[in-house]
Amino acid sequence: MKTIALSLQKGGVGKTSLAVSIAAELASLTGSVLLIDADPQASATSWIGTHTITVELADVLTGTTPVKQAIMQTGITGLDLLPSAGLGGELKAFGEGPGKDDPFCFRRLLKEVAARGYQYTVIDLSPGWGALERAAALGADEIITPVLGDSFAIDGLQIFNENLVTLRHRFETEKPRHTRIIVNAVDGRIKQHAETLDAIRAAAAGITIYSVPVDPAFRLAQRKHCFVQEIATVKPETRLVLHTIAEDLHTRGK
Ligand SMILES: Nc1ncnc2c1ncn2[C@@H]1O[C@H](COP(=O)(O)OP(=O)(O)O)[C@@H](O)[C@H]1O
Ligand SMILES: [Mg+2]
Repeated sequence: MKTIALSLQKGGVGKTSLAVSIAAELASLTGSVLLIDADPQASATSWIGTHTITVELADVLTGTTPVKQAIMQTGITGLDLLPSAGLGGELKAFGEGPGKDDPFCFRRLLKEVAARGYQYTVIDLSPGWGALERAAALGADEIITPVLGDSFAIDGLQIFNENLVTLRHRFETEKPRHTRIIVNAVDGRIKQHAETLDAIRAAAAGITIYSVPVDPAFRLAQRKHCFVQEIATVKPETRLVLHTIAEDLHTRGK
């Protein structure tokens, strides 16, 4: 099983939108994907489902509930969800409480997930870099960083990179790898977006850079509790780049 986390220490860059959409795309490619909502705000869960959550990720991490009991099906064949409930704040409480002394809680969880036969796990994270996010990163094989085309992009990537280097050093591990950056919500009419893309391409040797266009279909999909791929008006470029990312993860993800 391969685990991919979407992470950057900044909100509103598209972590949730891309985690949900990449998970759906990988599911149609492989038929065997689990999306883990590890953001205490639970936006991926409220995007995908409208049902009440009775057991959530926090219950699995604390050991109260077996992972099998918390996993839900989604509207896409081959895509399941390990949800968070948001409201009760249990995931946040776990991260600030018992999770603080448990950097390998996600590694253990992911072992159980792998034993259930999933080929891919996609983790949506909050913009924080607390114990919870670090544990999720430690469990992941790779992290994809979404940035916007604004002036914060380079700084944001630098902060992320410093965090990642510190984590790897502390735990003497090579993982997670960071080999893909998504420049999200790119508007061809905005000069700064093109300049940011160029600057990232120039600075990030050995990293694959994807450009996702600004596309109202993301917001629409979130509102309709469906996937962007199911929105009739989704831009062909959006469809194409999501497919390319999933294909690359599947075939060039060694
Ligand atoms: N490519 C895009 N084009 C237009 N809007 C987008 C795009 N990606 C995300 N959005 C919108 O931007 C907002 C923030 O995205 P979200 O995925 O919640 O970011 P994050 O998880 O990083 O906080 C949401 O309203 C979402 O619908
Ligand atoms: Mg989010």
